[in-house]
This record gives sequence, C-alpha cells and structure tokens, in this order.
Amino acid sequence: MGFSSKHPIIFILMFISAYRDQIIIAQAQESTPYYLAWKFCFGTNYTANSTYRTNLNLFFSSLSTKFTNNTVPLHGYHNIKIGESPNTVYGSLHCREDMAPAICSKCVQIATERVIMQNSGCPNRKTAILFYNGCILRYSDENYFSVLRQQPSINLTYTDNSVVDQVQYIDIITGLLDDLVIEAVTNTSISPSLYATRSANYTMSDQVYVMVQCTPDLTPSVCYKCLRSAVGRLSGCCSGAQGARVLFPSCTFRFEKAPFFGNYVYNIIRASPPTL
Ligand SMILES: *[C@@H]1O[C@H](CO)[C@@H](O)[C@H](O)[C@H]1NC(C)=O
Ligand SMILES: *[C@@H]1O[C@H](CO)[C@@H](O)[C@H](O)[C@H]1NC(C)=O
Ligand SMILES: *[C@@H]1O[C@H](CO)[C@@H](O)[C@H](O)[C@H]1NC(C)=O
Ligand SMILES: *[C@@H]1O[C@H](CO)[C@@H](O)[C@H](O)[C@H]1NC(C)=O
Ligand SMILES: *[C@@H]1O[C@H](CO)[C@@H](O)[C@H](O)[C@H]1NC(C)=O
Ligand SMILES: *[C@@H]1O[C@H](CO)[C@@H](O)[C@H](O)[C@H]1NC(C)=O
Repeated sequence: MGFSSKHPIIFILMFISAYRDQIIIAQAQESTPYYLAWKFCFGTNYTANSTYRTNLNLFFSSLSTKFTNNTVPLHGYHNIKIGESPNTVYGSLHCREDMAPAICSKCVQIATERVIMQNSGCPNRKTAILFYNGCILRYSDENYFSVLRQQPSINLTYTDNSVVDQVQYIDIITGLLDDLVIEAVTNTSISPSLYATRSANYTMSDQVYVMVQCTPDLTPSVCYKCLRSAVGRLSGCCSGAQGARVLFPSCTFRFEKAPFFGNYVYNIIRASPPTL
C-alpha cells in the first residue's frame, strides 16, 4: 500500500514515525557517547565533609534537573555558580549538540557519578574536566565562565596505517577544518551554536568526518580564536594519524574515518511539529 489521500491518518502516522527515525538515526551515529576520552584533574584538594563537597553535590543535582530524558538547555549547555567564596563551585555541563536528550541526560548521570570515584574520576580535586564523547563535565573553584582557556590541553591520535595517501588526507582535513571554524561562528537560522560538522570523500571509497566545537558561553570571536589555535596544531600533532582530537577546555576539534556525529538535534526537537 502506497501513500494515498484516502488514508490521511496512516500518512500522518508514517510521517511522524519517519520524523522520529531521523532523530534516532542521528543520535545513533556516536556509538560510544559514554566513553571517557580524557580527563584533567588539577587544583587543590577538598576534604570529604567540606562545604566545597556539599556545593559540588548541589551542582550535580542541579544538572540532573536541567538535563532530563526529554529536555536539555539551549545548545546542550548549562553553567551555574554555587556557594560563597572560598567554597564557591563554578560548574558546567555541555552535551555535544547532536546528542538526543535521553543520551545527554544519561551522560550527565554517568559523568557526575564517576567524577568522584578513584579511577574514573578526579576524587577530592577542586578542578576537573571530563571529556566524554557525548558530554563534557567541568567544575572549578575559579570562575572560568566565558573565559578563553587553552590549557591544559591534549592531542589524542589514532594510527592504524589505513590511510593510503596521508598527505592528501591531511590536506583535505585542513580544508574542512578551515571552513568549519568559520561556519561554527557564523550566524545561521538557528543562531550561532559554535558547533559545526562536515564530511568529505578523500578517495573514491573513503570518507573523513570532521567536527569543531566551542563551549557555548564564549562569544563567536573568542571561539574563533580558540579554534584557530587548536587547528593550528594539526600538522604538528596529527599528520600520520587516521583519527585525532585536540582538546582544550574552551574548544575541541576531532576527525575520524568513520562517522561519529549525527544531525544537530536540539533545535529539531525544540521546533514546533511540522505542519501537515
Ligand atoms: C590531592 O589528592 C590526591 C589523591 O586523592 C593526591 O594524589 C594529591 O597529591 C593531592 N594533592 C594535594 C595538593 O594535596
Ligand atoms: C564526615 O562526617 C561523618 C558523619 O558526619 C563522620 O562520620 C566522618 O568521620 C567525617 N569525616 C571526616 C574526615 O571528618
Ligand atoms: C530515562 O530513560 C531511561 C532509559 O530509557 C530510563 O531507564 C529512565 O528511567 C528514564 N528516566 C526518567 C526520569 O524517566
Ligand atoms: C548573530 O545575530 C544576532 C541577532 O541577529 C546578533 O546579535 C549577533 O551579533 C550576530 N552574530 C554574528 C557573529 O554575526
Ligand atoms: C563519495 O563516496 C561515496 C561512497 O563511496 C560515493 O557514493 C559518492 O559518489 C562519492 N562522492 C563523490 C563526490 O565522489
Ligand atoms: C600537541 O601538538 C602540538 C603540535 O601541534 C605540540 O606543540 C604540543 O606539545 C602537543 N601537546 C601534547 C600535550 O602533546
């Protein structure tokens, strides 16, 4: 049975289900959203029963109310200041902008549970940045909101010698990154999101997938500066790699031979239902 005006209800149901599928496909493309790619633990230590620890717990519970299975803040980002000096906690959570709310809230839950654990987290440390594939949890006793931070940083690379023409590969990635940095800070119909993705063919049968992202508390011009600085590392860190990430507190880029991102989700979900 094909689409027919005799069956308007069936048509509508199929349309809605296709619309949902699109979102599910999009979120499925990061196969490991709860994978911890890297963590930075630094600063001084707090003690078990301290006010700082109490404020940290308040921060975690505020995240669990902001990020639910159905709702996430704009651009997947929330930051909050809790408590009085010298025990103030500045905290933020940033879900990658293609993560569906249910994936995002699970990422929040995992990140906040593990960050206080011995091996997976930053136990007793006042400052932490955890880079999960799907979300970034960060907190500090210093105010870092809207501040450009390029340290600490790390280059992560994956090499399996599967790229035939490495020079051409890096050339294509360089071109894509140059374009994406502009795209991320340029106004579109969905407002500057400081996030952009693209893919391209580098041979007849192989693609490369590239992503850039800043924390949404930055202005576009500060984001641009951060991304240019991260991308400037490409030839030094990553020639010879098949996949890589450069992680700064304020911005990151990543490229892979396999797809790892979906469509920009949050505005799709926030938008009104399509008019039928
Ligand atoms: C903080 O605690 C960690 C382990 O809990 C320890 O390795 C580190 O030396 C401590 N740092 C300071 C500055 O006390
Ligand atoms: C923390 O508080 C608990 C219960 O109030 C107490 O049993 C424990 O000894 C305290 N720990 C420290 C390190 O003060
Ligand atoms: C969110 O979704 C997960 C998985 O579908 C479910 O286990 C959990 O109970 C849900 N949480 C809430 C608060 O509804
Ligand atoms: C984007 O558009 C908004 C609203 O129109 C404006 O306030 C903002 O300055 C623009 N940003 C850029 C980078 O053009
Ligand atoms: C890119 O590769 C895909 C998959 O091999 C192919 O279907 C497509 O035609 C290629 N696009 C271009 C522009 O070469
Ligand atoms: C990352 O790569 C850059 C070169 O692009 C290098 O200067 C820097 O030391 C590397 N950082 C680490 C932590 O390896």
